[in-house]
This record gives sequence, C-alpha cells and structure tokens, in this order.
Amino acid sequence: MAILEGIQIQNYRALQRFTLGKTLYEREQDALPRLVTVIGANGSGKSSLLDALGFLGDCLAEGVEAACDKPHRGGFERMRTQGSAEAVKFEVRYKETPIARPISYSLQIACDARGRAQVVYERLRQRRKGQAYGQPYSFLELTNGQGYAWSGTEGFEQGTGTGKGAPAAMEGSERVPIKMKDRQVLGIATLGTLANHDRVVAFRDFLSGWYLSCFVPELARSPSQAGADPHLDRRGENLSRYLQYVERANPEGFRQMLSRIAEKVPGIIDITPKTERDRRLVLEFSAKGFPDPFYQQDMSDGTLKMLAYLLLMEDPSPAPLIGIEEPDNGLHHQLLATLAQEFKEYASKARGPQILITTHAPNFVDALTPEEVWILDKGSDGFSRLSRAADLKGVREMFAEGIPMGSLWYSNHFGIGNP
Ligand SMILES: Nc1ncnc2c1ncn2[C@@H]1O[C@H](COP(=O)(O)OP(=O)(O)O)[C@@H](O)[C@H]1O
Ligand SMILES: [Mg+2]
Repeated sequence: MAILEGIQIQNYRALQRFTLGKTLYEREQDALPRLVTVIGANGSGKSSLLDALGFLGDCLAEGVEAACDKPHRGGFERMRTQGSAEAVKFEVRYKETPIARPISYSLQIACDARGRAQVVYERLRQRRKGQAYGQPYSFLELTNGQGYAWSGTEGFEQGTGTGKGAPAAMEGSERVPIKMKDRQVLGIATLGTLANHDRVVAFRDFLSGWYLSCFVPELARSPSQAGADPHLDRRGENLSRYLQYVERANPEGFRQMLSRIAEKVPGIIDITPKTERDRRLVLEFSAKGFPDPFYQQDMSDGTLKMLAYLLLMEDPSPAPLIGIEEPDNGLHHQLLATLAQEFKEYASKARGPQILITTHAPNFVDALTPEEVWILDKGSDGFSRLSRAADLKGVREMFAEGIPMGSLWYSNHFGIGNP
C-alpha cells in the first residue's frame, strides 16, 4: 500500500507553516506511521488539517477555483491565512511501496488580479536509481502553467538534483514540453491520464484515493433509496446502500461481519439484515432485555457511529489514506479506547489503509504510543503549532513506565500552551 510519509502546508487557514512527518525540507523527521492521531483543543486547527487534505483532492478532481469556492471554504482569500500575501503551498512526500524511492510533490496556488485562484507552481521530484544522498531530481516542473515532464520511470531533468548516484538511465524516457491551457487544472490531473507517465499516474491515483470521513449519525438514520454503493460515503448518508452492496457481494461474509460488529457494540446482541418489499435493506438490532428488534432510526448516535466506523474497517478495498474527523463525538469514553485499538489494527493490516484521526478525547489516545500522537495547539501568534508526543521531554519515559498517552495529555504533560 502507498504511504504518506509527510506533508507540509503553508498559508492554509490557521496552518501558516505546518509540517506533519517527513518532507523534502524536513528530512530529519521520521516518516509518518500507519496510524496518525492529532489531538488538540477546540480552535487548534484539527478541522483545518483534514480540510487541507480534502482541498488537495478537490483541486485534483474539480480544479483549484472550484475547490476554493466550496461553501465551507468561502473562496481563496478566506481560505488563505489572514495577513498572508503568499501562495497557499503544499509539499507532499509519499512512497508507492515500502521499498520504492519516495516522491515529493510541490503545489502552489495563488490568485490572479481578478481574485481567481490558479495553479502557479507544480513539481514532482524523486531520487535517481542508486542515488543515496542529496536533493532529488525533477521529472515534472510547471511554473505558471509552463514547463516540462519526463515520461517513463527513469527520466529526470539534468541539473535539478544534487546527489551523485548512478547516471540517469534515460532509455524509454522522453522530455515533453507542457503548456497548460487552463490554469485551474493541476498538471498532474492531465498528465496522470497518460499511460507513459506512470509515476504521475501513480501519484494522482494515490492523491485522488484519499477518503475523508466526517460521520453524521442523523443522516444515517434517514431512510435511503434502494440500491447498492461500493463504499460508505463521507457523512454516512448511504449506510444502507453500502450494506446492500456488501451483502450482495458476499452474503455469508456479510452475516459474519454483522455478528463481529454486534459483539463490539455494547448492548447489542445481534444484527440481522432484512429486505423490505421495496427492496431496501434494513437492519434489525436485537438489544438486551427487549423482545422486539430496533431499527437504524431508533439507534443512538453513539451506536450508529460505532457501527459506521466498524463497517468502514470491513471495506475489503480501502482508500490508501483515510482521514477521520473527531470520531469521539457522541461516543462513551469507555468505547473510545476500543475504537482506537480497532483503527490501529486495521491500519497495520497488510492491505489496510493509512489512517489519520483528529480528536479531542484523552481516552481515545490511551491505546496509542508516543510515536502515533501529535499535539496541535494555537501559538501566541494565532497559528497552529504541531509537536509529536514522542519528541516532548519526558513523554517516552513516562509512557515506558506505564502511563497511558491520554493520561499524560490530561495531566498536561504535553505542555500545551507553553511557548
Ligand atoms: N484564513 C484564516 N487565517 C487564520 N486563521 C484562520 C483562518 N480561517 C480560520 N482560522 C482559524 O483557525 C482556527 C482553527 O480552526 P479549526 O481548524 O476549525 O479548529 P478545530 O477543528 O481544532 O476546532 C480557528 O480558531 C480560526 O480562527
Ligand atoms: Mg473542528
């Protein structure tokens, strides 16, 4: 599975200069693990972080202006960090496989004189085969919509990197001049459809596969149309249709999945699927002490949330990266550590996704290690600051002595608010 090693974000809402994990410019940091949890108080920038990830996907799918103008972003100027006149910048470092050479993607977005957002800079870089050190070489660079791309897997622009390494094997590679007609469109969106640009195709697929979940129990409660969807959508609106898909694909596996889930949802003894006369699939929940079943509409927010996350983790072909916003809301604190443990196991599966979770619940992080927890807070300048728990003084030692991460946070050992 492809993995995000790190991301740097600049001038995106409260993320004025923000780095998570290892990037081209912060190479001394560790690459991100399979499960990344970001904790922080209200207003510390958790939603901004997940929204920034969603923004990249939206830019790729719909173009940069449409991405900026989504109702919750309100246009480029509102999205850019207040007081900044610079471009909004992203630096993404990823690996296609654990043994692949990492690829770094740079993207800068600014607005033109009329206030329209446009792509001003894009670059893809990778070390050459055998290059052990030094700056990677470019294989795509576009400034104001113009530049070049190298096709194949070993074509690189001469003189862009610094490492010695083996000379570039240029067979099968071709330097293609590029002039973008539409400055709203990412170069990787266009080149990522060409068969002989495999590196760009792979990166575009990785980025466009990111999945962000912000489950809204109320939406899962309302009845949906009959039919089947292969994946649970962002807000859980199509819960029934997703269940229908899983049931059709593997009826026996589906029943086993429901009993696994029933074991993990407190108070529920059994979950049985039933097909209505209009072909909709409904779930009957048998609860302790009640002879008649309950239905989705009757279930509490917490039960539905737990159900949705457990279902998400049953997806046989998950997205490469899953972002989950505050799964703790509406869940009992005793369930949180269980849920964190489930996410951790899911992320560590051979074909499991990388998972990035934001939370403000100390109990949730009790199941995690100092290497899996980042703390976000607001600096005195009003911008978000991020630190990894493992890098804070004394945290590793206290954790080794048996103090869980949530307790360390709760008792303020993470030094939130300190300069
Ligand atoms: N364009 C911007 N420039 C600077 N700060 C911003 C901008 N937009 C929003 N913010 C600030 O970002 C902070 C973090 O918001 P948010 O990401 O929603 O936090 P959380 O999800 O952790 O509660 C808010 O306090 C808000 O004032
Ligand atoms: Mg938020």
